[in-house]
Amino acid sequence: MRAPLIVIEGLDRTGKSTQTAKLCHRLNGFLVKFPNRETPIGKLLNQYLTDASNPMPLEVAHLLFSANRWEMVKNIEDLLSKGTPVVMDRYVYSGVAYSMAKGLDIEWCLAPDKGLPKPDVTIFLKANDLDSISQREGFGEERYEVASLQTSVRNNFEILRSRYDEWKVIIIDGKDIDQVHEHIWELVCPLTRGVTTGLNRF
Ligand code: TMP
Ligand code: MG
Repeated sequence: MRAPLIVIEGLDRTGKSTQTAKLCHRLNGFLVKFPNRETPIGKLLNQYLTDASNPMPLEVAHLLFSANRWEMVKNIEDLLSKGTPVVMDRYVYSGVAYSMAKGLDIEWCLAPDKGLPKPDVTIFLKANDLDSISQREGFGEERYEVASLQTSVRNNFEILRSRYDEWKVIIIDGKDIDQVHEHIWELVCPLTRGVTTGLNRF
């Protein structure tokens, strides 16, 4: 028996941070946010994301986002095997969806993440109304918070959703924080008794 690995994905400003924190608290789990801006590689990524004049090639940025996940793998696997659920705020799918939106090929994008643990469930917080997202506080502060890019990222998430069967979608339009949380809980609850199968891999 091991604990579940749960991923919450979505565009910028869709409430992932709020929802992952709430879920983690209820599960008594461990929260992992990607990018993890505290690690050596995470610091480079933070610099890249907050300074639009940083000239890093997009392939390099992609590989750093992937390396940032590999930095955390040992930690995550140890927690799961000891029975602590892990909740992730973004993961492989953000890596692929954002880099594809900048023109990189899907298979190229997936390659460096090959071998990472696969989530038991991936919950996609989907906003049908993208205008309301771009009006949320803080939108536009970081490099990828541009409406046209977000539209493309959302389409790429749909491509990924059709490829991976652990995906579940929650439409967030018109729902408040607690309603979204309860919906997430319904999806996660069956996993709280523990998972009998080993971790799958990308
Ligand atoms: P954050 O807003 O969740 O902190 O993420 C920062 C930005 O990084 C966000 O616009 C999504 C983007 N991103 C990637 O481009 N590739 C990745 O692998 C990850 C995890 C995030
Ligand atoms: Mg963001």
